[in-house]
Amino acid sequence: MSRKPSILLTVILMMALMLSACSPAKSPAGSTDAAPEKKDLKLTIYAGLMEDHAIAATKEFEKQTGVKTEFVRMSSGETLARIRAEKDNMTASVWFGGPVDAYIASMEEGLLVPYKSPNAEKFPDKYKDPDGYWTGIYSGYLGFVCDKEWFEEKGLEIPKSWDDLLKPEFKGQIVTAHPGSSGTAYTMLATIVQLKGEEAGFEYMQKLNGQIRQYTKSGTAPGRMVGLKEIPIGITFLHDAIKYRLEGFKDIVISAPAEGTGYEIGGVAILANGPDQEAAQMFVDWALTKEAQELGSTVGSFQFLTNPDAIPPEEAMVLKDTKLIDYDFDWAGKNRKNLVEKFNEVTKTQPPTE
Ligand code: G6P
Repeated sequence: MSRKPSILLTVILMMALMLSACSPAKSPAGSTDAAPEKKDLKLTIYAGLMEDHAIAATKEFEKQTGVKTEFVRMSSGETLARIRAEKDNMTASVWFGGPVDAYIASMEEGLLVPYKSPNAEKFPDKYKDPDGYWTGIYSGYLGFVCDKEWFEEKGLEIPKSWDDLLKPEFKGQIVTAHPGSSGTAYTMLATIVQLKGEEAGFEYMQKLNGQIRQYTKSGTAPGRMVGLKEIPIGITFLHDAIKYRLEGFKDIVISAPAEGTGYEIGGVAILANGPDQEAAQMFVDWALTKEAQELGSTVGSFQFLTNPDAIPPEEAMVLKDTKLIDYDFDWAGKNRKNLVEKFNEVTKTQPPTE
């Protein structure tokens, strides 16, 4: 063979290669595959779980997928108010953490879009909405956080029931978050109404209001205040109290109400009209994995986990025999607005803004 045809062949081959590199990739069906590179995706999240947990999760998700991820930490009622206001121009695309009661309330208002992640298939039904509007990522139990030293000094017993909180010696010694802003405190309100019925429940809330020194915005604040000895009794999710104790507030002791207590299922959901729907689905898929769920305990978030393969944190095991009520999430979500309005009326309070 002479040299000339071989050079010609090489040129033709090179041109063909260059042309094919310039033309858009085709999917098997022949349509243009317009999916952007994963590294170009970005995501904004409204996070309802602890700040350090949100940092760890968004960092790890970003590392694994290349999706540039930011979050804003807000309490449940704040997120609900924000997404109502942003209804037609949503800033974030995912809601991550915090009790699903508020997710159910927002689903009713058309603020969520359904997404049934394949990763949720093996989850127990109680941990997911049947239509895919929310999926549970963890569960946590409500109870009391107390300053052991204060009780020892006063020679008093730590409260062990909801009714104990009404004892005269605890007047002005209790802090709880406000149900209008906090998912933790809304879980408390819905628990009391489910335990006692609406009439007796609000009578109780009115009496409890007389015992409260301060309503905080976030449900995480009472545990920290007890740790700092600003107050002897707080109402909180017990896994938060365990976190504070392990972080150095040694006098923190916990108890769960004997009548039975309510619990949260912390959720993840995709916001309607959010700008980054593809990245949002990727995040939901990731948040349901065993690895993502087990990440919580590395930063002191000791909730029980919803993925059946995930190993629950050892630190949460002291709570495993807590007496729980048969908490009705659907009812609590759908009645959130009414119950909060009635609470405001009965206690003559409004959720704090700071
Ligand atoms: C903490 C808990 C979460 C809970 C959240 C609710 O971060 O660890 O399990 O869902 O508080 O916060 P909120 O401020 O709405 O009561």
